Amino acid sequence: MNYDLKFNDKKYTIETITLDEKTLKYRAFENIIYVKNPIDTNFQKLSIFVPETYYEGNSIGNYNLKTAPIFFPNTVGGYMPGAPERPGINKFINKPNATFYALLHGYIVVSPGARGRGLKDKNGKFTGTAPACIVDLKAAVRYLRHNKDIIPGNVEKIISNGTSAGGALSALLGSTGNHPDYESYLKELGAADERDNIFASSCYCPITNLENADKAYEWEFCRINDYHKMKFERIEGSPKPKLVPISREMNELQIELSKELKSLFPEYLNKLNLKSSNGTLLTIDSEGNGTFKDYIKSFVIKSAQKELNKGKNLSDLKWITIVNNEVTDVDFDKFIKFRTRMKDTPAFDNISMGTPENELFGTPEIQYRHFTEFSKNHSIVNGELSEEAQIKLMNPMNYISDNSCTTAKNFRIRHGAIDRDTSLAISAILAVTLEMNGVNVDYDLPWGIPHSGDYDLDELFAWIDNIVSN
Ligand code: DHB
Repeated sequence: MNYDLKFNDKKYTIETITLDEKTLKYRAFENIIYVKNPIDTNFQKLSIFVPETYYEGNSIGNYNLKTAPIFFPNTVGGYMPGAPERPGINKFINKPNATFYALLHGYIVVSPGARGRGLKDKNGKFTGTAPACIVDLKAAVRYLRHNKDIIPGNVEKIISNGTSAGGALSALLGSTGNHPDYESYLKELGAADERDNIFASSCYCPITNLENADKAYEWEFCRINDYHKMKFERIEGSPKPKLVPISREMNELQIELSKELKSLFPEYLNKLNLKSSNGTLLTIDSEGNGTFKDYIKSFVIKSAQKELNKGKNLSDLKWITIVNNEVTDVDFDKFIKFRTRMKDTPAFDNISMGTPENELFGTPEIQYRHFTEFSKNHSIVNGELSEEAQIKLMNPMNYISDNSCTTAKNFRIRHGAIDRDTSLAISAILAVTLEMNGVNVDYDLPWGIPHSGDYDLDELFAWIDNIVSN
């Protein structure tokens, strides 16, 4: 079936919802297929939500039906497919979702669906392997531009938002605007022939830069050989797999690989020639120490200081030095021990495969593949290696300084200080690289925050309002 890319502004419902003692009346244009030739209509669709008061000629703050920014939150997690989400309760945190609050705040919300790993067509072929998820988000942006005169809100003020794999996609969407590498995929789907660059990216704990994430993980966690995570396991007598805590020791081979991976990180990092905004070259020595480590530490100190200023007692944390209510130092290695290791080695491209990322880099026929030479060479399942081109398309680092794309002018990156799903180095590298390329970057490692997103929406919306008004 060939879908029409023209937005129908007559096809909507008017809804009212009360959450958190706040009532929201909104207009919902839902389940709009955003490409002419979709492969999966459960996911290649978007929903548009608009505060109903805009249709009564009113404004919210500085925004109205024409001028409101478009908040664009993807729902991708674990690189799995993510469907459009309505204003409602976020099941994971049992609180109203960002879509609800964004509408209350006066944004137009466009909730895009996207394909992801594990998705199959009727012939059993995988349809959501890389780069499907990013191609879909781009197609959704193009749909909005294609209909810019009838779409509510300002299509030149799209702010993407996502968490974890969704945060990585948000970063990718912001970094790769209009890049020709994605063109053939978009053409094949019948995406609108429009630009797909966006105004801003909000990225919570982005699981990104995947082909370098194993080295970065061991830079941080090498020498910590016990790992602790939650895992779905089948329990006897229980019909459904349950999330249970797992605590294990890495085996000898893993401990050896951890050391090897750690030793590979300095070469990668130092080649990036990262410079902080005050001109310091960010490097590390063969042990992983140096100005780059100090740079991340400075964000941990800043984050601890913020907490202290809120009146929090941090005196139990012996690895923090506090003098006269000022955080003067953090023992970084003790801080890492305090965080604990979550993943065994290699954390992303596992030598026995089976990680979300191994599945992301599959093919229509092959469920899992490696995406690093290192793990391909150490594979204990004789896994295949993904093509260079597929790997490239999923990493914003490959595009940020590429003149063939239009990078978003603004990035907000948050990586919880106790998040262990990926190394803090990964978000720091992304933040510095963007900054070096003229992007306005707001980067922080919020205190006490594990792997999660949307926990500081007031601050996020204040940031959005600020960049929109400038
Ligand atoms: C997510 C978490 C991970 O640890 C990972 O490797 C990939 C994705 C997530 O929560 O989306």
